Amino acid sequence: MKGTQRKSGPASQPPALKQDGLHVAIIMDGNGRWATARGLPRVAGHQAGAEAVRRTIEAAPKLGIRTLTLYAFSSDNWHRPPDEVATLMKLFHEYLERHTAECVKHGIRLTVIGRRDRLDPKLRRAIERAEAATAAGDRLHLRIAVDYSARDAIVRAACRVNGRPVGRAEFARLLGEAIHGREPVPDVDLLIRTGGEQRLSDFLLWECAYAELYFTNRMWPDFGAQDLEAAVRDFHRRERRFGRVLASAG
Ligand code: FPP
Repeated sequence: MKGTQRKSGPASQPPALKQDGLHVAIIMDGNGRWATARGLPRVAGHQAGAEAVRRTIEAAPKLGIRTLTLYAFSSDNWHRPPDEVATLMKLFHEYLERHTAECVKHGIRLTVIGRRDRLDPKLRRAIERAEAATAAGDRLHLRIAVDYSARDAIVRAACRVNGRPVGRAEFARLLGEAIHGREPVPDVDLLIRTGGEQRLSDFLLWECAYAELYFTNRMWPDFGAQDLEAAVRDFHRRERRFGRVLASAG
């Protein structure tokens, strides 16, 4: 991949996984194609995608992931057919209702990022209940992005700056508030996109400034623990320089 280098090492011996609190973000793409390829309606792909969400969350802490941000519904997704939008909203609601207790049990703190004012009030209340119930979770911070647009969030944060000189940390705080984040989260270390496309689709544009990008042809409903592990192992082989020159360079 352009701009990254891989550390050389024996291919048969994967590097040991570090447990250093990664922030991994995932663009869960390919639900519709997965369903169409099976002669099923697109919504069946989203239902299968919800299972992949469950598998991914279960696998994440064991791979050193401490923050996991999933792109569930972009602000542009409102333009999809109404029945597909309704199914997705129903899936989010069901997910919150069914999995909150499990999240509490496994130390998962759940927050939803994005705009709330266009969500159904019942879904909003379910989000608030899930966030309150899981607030003490310290094993994994799961962030689900719903009605999310990185560009809209940046514009909202910039409006609040209102000409004042602010540093990056202050801007990041304002950005967090603009997406309903309770506090700033670390920048994204690894951005995964499934479904074979290679684009960012208005997701975490600020937070991904130095993210390593990983694209896989796997359709989201087929994504599992092994795929997540492969992505994290690939990440650990990358050399991150953050625009600098390594001290060891000649
Ligand atoms: C993109 O695939 C996927 C989405 C817009 C929705 C993601 C939603 C889920 C995985 C379901 C449940 C999520 C939670 C958090 C419970 P696409 O429909 O654009 O696929 P395509 O590119 O093949 O058409």
